Amino acid sequence: MSPGSASPAAIPGGGVACVRHVAIIMDGNGRWAKRRHLPRVAGHRQGMEAVRRTIRAAGEIGLEALTLYAFSSENWRRPVDEINDLMGLLRLYLKREIDELDRNGVRLRLIGDYHKFAPDLVEQLEAAVARTANNQGLTAVLALNYGGQDEIVRVARRMAEAAKAGTLDPAAIDIDLIDDHLDTAGLPPLDLMIRTSGEVRLSNFLLWQAAYAELLFTDTLWPDFDRAALEDALAAFGARERRFGGR
Ligand code: IPE
Ligand code: IPE
Ligand code: MG
Repeated sequence: MSPGSASPAAIPGGGVACVRHVAIIMDGNGRWAKRRHLPRVAGHRQGMEAVRRTIRAAGEIGLEALTLYAFSSENWRRPVDEINDLMGLLRLYLKREIDELDRNGVRLRLIGDYHKFAPDLVEQLEAAVARTANNQGLTAVLALNYGGQDEIVRVARRMAEAAKAGTLDPAAIDIDLIDDHLDTAGLPPLDLMIRTSGEVRLSNFLLWQAAYAELLFTDTLWPDFDRAALEDALAAFGARERRFGGR
């Protein structure tokens, strides 16, 4: 995630700020459904529509990367029926959306330990990544079985193994080297982290990468999120003063 030449996305409302990479904790599907006396899966289904809308809007706005928290390493604690519903919707999303994503130049990427998913789903995910690998538009990153702590544990383990094998000098470990070993290696630095549904916590999302990200919490439930909500968030981001420890 080393800073490179920025291609700034226009901030709605006039200004241009350097926003390259936005991440979203897509929360509130269950409450959206509950308010309508619908089963939770109905909320997840509408959440999938919000994913479709938001990826399209992010591409049109000109973001470089959009990272979406779709399934956390802690979401295995949910009832198995709900987990199965989420996996089913992911299969459906890939099947239904891959043509349009590809047509729109979206490059799909994955972060998290998604290899723990069912083999057919892993295959489907990797096929979608391979098919879109050379696209030049938005990089849409799906966080699947992702946890920030788990990601750092996996990096530490790999580095310890390399040190033991004699291929890594512990003195060479610095911030850039860790960046290069994270699941997010090569993505632009995270500028803005949005969480929907009114909860004010990170829930283990992009802990390392959020070091200097701007945080934005909105009461909008994820299934109601749309282009206007993304534009509002970008406008709020544009009004922030980022100091990175300077003055
Ligand atoms: C987010 O909505 C979707 C996932 C975590 C997969 P929730 O299912 O967490 O919705 P709430 O928080 O219960 O409303
Ligand atoms: C975070 O939402 C995970 C995703 C959006 C995938 P949760 O609903 O799982 O988070 P908590 O449990 O409220 O912290
Ligand atoms: Mg939730």
